[in-house]
Amino acid sequence: MLMLDSTEASLRIAGEAIAAGRLVVIPTETVYGLGADAFNPEAVARVFEAKARPSFDPLIVHVAALGDIDRVASSLPAKARLLAEALWPGPLTMILPKREDVPGIVTSGLDTVAVRFPLHPVARKIIELSGTVVAAPSANPFGYISPTTAGHVARTLGDRVDFIVDGGPCPVGVESTVLDMCGDIPTLLRPGGMPLERIREVIGEVCVPVRHAAAAGPQASPGQLSSHYAPHARLVLHEFGSLGRGPGGFSIPGEAAVAIVFDAERAGFVEAAGAFSRVIALSTSGDMREAASRLFALLHELDQSGTASIHAERVPDEGLGRAINDRLYRASWK
Ligand code: TXA
Ligand code: MG
Repeated sequence: MLMLDSTEASLRIAGEAIAAGRLVVIPTETVYGLGADAFNPEAVARVFEAKARPSFDPLIVHVAALGDIDRVASSLPAKARLLAEALWPGPLTMILPKREDVPGIVTSGLDTVAVRFPLHPVARKIIELSGTVVAAPSANPFGYISPTTAGHVARTLGDRVDFIVDGGPCPVGVESTVLDMCGDIPTLLRPGGMPLERIREVIGEVCVPVRHAAAAGPQASPGQLSSHYAPHARLVLHEFGSLGRGPGGFSIPGEAAVAIVFDAERAGFVEAAGAFSRVIALSTSGDMREAASRLFALLHELDQSGTASIHAERVPDEGLGRAINDRLYRASWK
């Protein structure tokens, strides 16, 4: 593996490598992605192999211009067009009807394709320079926490990719929002970096399924396994505001556990209960964006330091908070 910086010359190498069928890790505004030419089935097969990802879990195709949507989608439903014009480039992925010539391995044989136009200038430039469109899942081993720095990728997948482009920490820090645009009413498949409130402002009604009874029965989005994004540490999830209450509440005694809470106010309260070896606020000021951008880096760091036990509180369920709560739930011990 070769680590590249994000100078123009490096991005050119990265783009050409993708065009030549190599695996290139690229920074996006959400998380780092493991990219390959979407129209090269052998390269895409190596993406699945590198991640040890099951073949029934389809990939997102990344484009660098609105005009490239029709390279992969056979049509653009009216509401999808509205969203594309209002919110792309950005952390939103839309499920659209697939063009026949998109290789089946990209979409796991589905007749739909996930499309995303990322905002990150480095991602856009690399896709542009590749001259193709780029299939890219998050650049983590299947089931593990997504990477938000080049270092996270180097540690976990470094020996299985050709290049990693270092674009610094990902500013959003949680994966894109996935929205199925193929039915009558658009359906939220994964809460993520684009807040549901913003999407509703543009297209009105969005169907939000209640969290699927874990892994039982067929899944609307194949990748939505309930156990995912999981650190090695055992993570126990608690309701917002429930840690450190003392008698009757959750004050976990004894073990050297770390607590993760939303903001400094909650942290002070939980610290006073004295049950944890360390209490970490996702954001000092209660800023949801800051909280989202820190979450995965924090879980990586706790794993690195050998933390065995984490007690995390949910955050308020609004804006990016939905994505944070979803990832905490999937990371949790069930
Ligand atoms: O922010 C992101 O979306 C990042 C960056 C790299 O762009 N990518 C990412 O990809 O998170 P991945 O593969 O880790 O997650 C893609 C999700 C999976 O849950 C997958 O099942 C779902 O999108 N998906 C892909 N194609 C689909 C399709 N045709 N129908 C339904 N769900 C689909
Ligand atoms: Mg992923």
